[in-house]
Amino acid sequence: MTSDEWYTPREVVKTIIDYLKPNSRVLCPFDTEQSFFVREFESRGFLVQHSHISEGKDFFSLPRPDVDYIISNPPFSRFDEILERLYEWDIPFAMIWNTQRLFDSRFRMQLAEVGGVELLFLYPRITFISGEGKKSVRPNFQSCYWCRGILPQRIMFAFVEEGQCEGQINMFEKENENER
Ligand SMILES: C[S@@+](CC[C@H](N)C(=O)[O-])C[C@H]1O[C@@H](n2cnc3c(N)ncnc32)[C@H](O)[C@@H]1O
Repeated sequence: MTSDEWYTPREVVKTIIDYLKPNSRVLCPFDTEQSFFVREFESRGFLVQHSHISEGKDFFSLPRPDVDYIISNPPFSRFDEILERLYEWDIPFAMIWNTQRLFDSRFRMQLAEVGGVELLFLYPRITFISGEGKKSVRPNFQSCYWCRGILPQRIMFAFVEEGQCEGQINMFEKENENER
């Protein structure tokens, strides 16, 4: 299991849906059918395509897809390469990212400056679901969606209903445990 195997709770997927045109076509390129991106988008009437490396579908081998949006939580270890491909394709997209590392690379600074970026900050910190299907503790970073062609403003904010996050533990309890 690598550090890329963290899965997104349904409540986090819901925060981006308000910005999408109803019934549009969405590609989730780092997702199996179990992903909450896939399940939530399908349940809201979007036409969803999904693909995942475990099914032999490497994002970097995909042809330019014919969709309205590309949305997911990608492997952070390859975030810059993924951004490069998404800007090349020039299809509106939203990818979850770590706010602490937001522009902490010349590549991302230049990409954002030249190509544009919109950011949806998520509060509180998102507790992702571990690869073993267990629930996880709150990470030490705040998450955002790095978007292009999706948000009406460059910086926006979303409050996640953490108490209702499917697949999450009671984070406050866990945090207190850790402090003991
Ligand atoms: C951070 S996880 C998120 C999974 C899912 N998108 C979600 O949010 O629940 C990223 C996933 O991308 C997969 N992955 C890694 N490299 C990939 C590639 N080149 N093409 C497609 N999927 C890849 C990983 O195995 C991992 O399951």
